[in-house]
Amino acid sequence: MSHRIVRKRQIGEDVFWAEVEAPLIAAARRPGQFIILSIDSDYSERIPLTIAGADAGKGTIELIWQRVGKTTAELAALNEGDEIDNIAGPLGTPTHIDRFGVVVCVGGGIGNAPLLPIAMALKQMGNRVISILGARDKSRMILEDRFAEISDELIVCTDDGSHGRKALVTEPLKEVCSRDPTPDHAFVIGPTPMMKFCCEATRPFGVPTQVSLNTIMIDGTGMCGGCRVEVGGKAKFVCVDGPEFDGHQVNFDLMIKRLGAYKKLEQQAYEDYKQHKCRIGLHG
Ligand code: FAD
Ligand code: FES
Ligand code: MG
Repeated sequence: MSHRIVRKRQIGEDVFWAEVEAPLIAAARRPGQFIILSIDSDYSERIPLTIAGADAGKGTIELIWQRVGKTTAELAALNEGDEIDNIAGPLGTPTHIDRFGVVVCVGGGIGNAPLLPIAMALKQMGNRVISILGARDKSRMILEDRFAEISDELIVCTDDGSHGRKALVTEPLKEVCSRDPTPDHAFVIGPTPMMKFCCEATRPFGVPTQVSLNTIMIDGTGMCGGCRVEVGGKAKFVCVDGPEFDGHQVNFDLMIKRLGAYKKLEQQAYEDYKQHKCRIGLHG
């Protein structure tokens, strides 16, 4: 079954948003879950993307992605009315949403996209939501307006100070954790080093911290082992046991090492794609 792109637009530097027909997934999805898509089922690789939102009535899901390599660039090159051959999902264990009390939601870069449905669900559950959003610069800050709608307090920062406060997210996170009372729970989604340092920031305050891991995935069903991580000294598969885990238990250094395993090949594939040398995954 193919999936039509109903609407699509660019929402930031190298960041794209699309509403895509996927009625069964739209009806079943819950916050924290993701899909695996292949643009062309004969030639394309499979990549995981979080379900950033869904409209069960319209039968559509929202995807937000950053153009970082060949497949995300191919996806960015599609237009409204084009079709994605295959979308599998919803995958992964949904986020445990509870009435924690005060929750702090920390998003970095494209991580704001998967964080949004979680923050919305936490707000609906009656939590006081403090959101901290970070990006390299103003052009890469996404979904700030949507977080403003659902947050009791919103702190925005950029690395270069071009928008909001000039700081890394760990700085306001430590300040929020120093408050009395300390937050009851933290949810952090962003680049892996950022999640690692946020966990180090919350650890001394004893704030339970949930992270969403973005390991390499192939099948998404727990069979290939591509997404293996170490959590609390035990092997876990992010696609079925996660993607969310207790951040204080995750071996981030091992994860970062495994994420870079195919870097050279990925860079070569993107260069070939850009120079139109490689026809794989290209239409026509
Ligand atoms: P490549 O050049 O092939 O890879 C660039 C980097 O992306 C790699 O170094 C690696 O770190 C990562 N990557 C490559 N292949 C995969 C793969 N098969 N699976 C996972 N990571 C890979 N990105 C978004 O922009 N928006 C999202 O909502 C989003 N949600 C995700 C949810 C989950 C559960 C996971 C695991 C990842 C998510 N990602 C998301 C990351 C996204 O899958 C990668 O950016 C994408 O696969 C890169 O593909 P590429 O061919 O364009 O780049
Ligand atoms: Fe294959 Fe998780 S992606 S085991
Ligand atoms: Mg790729």
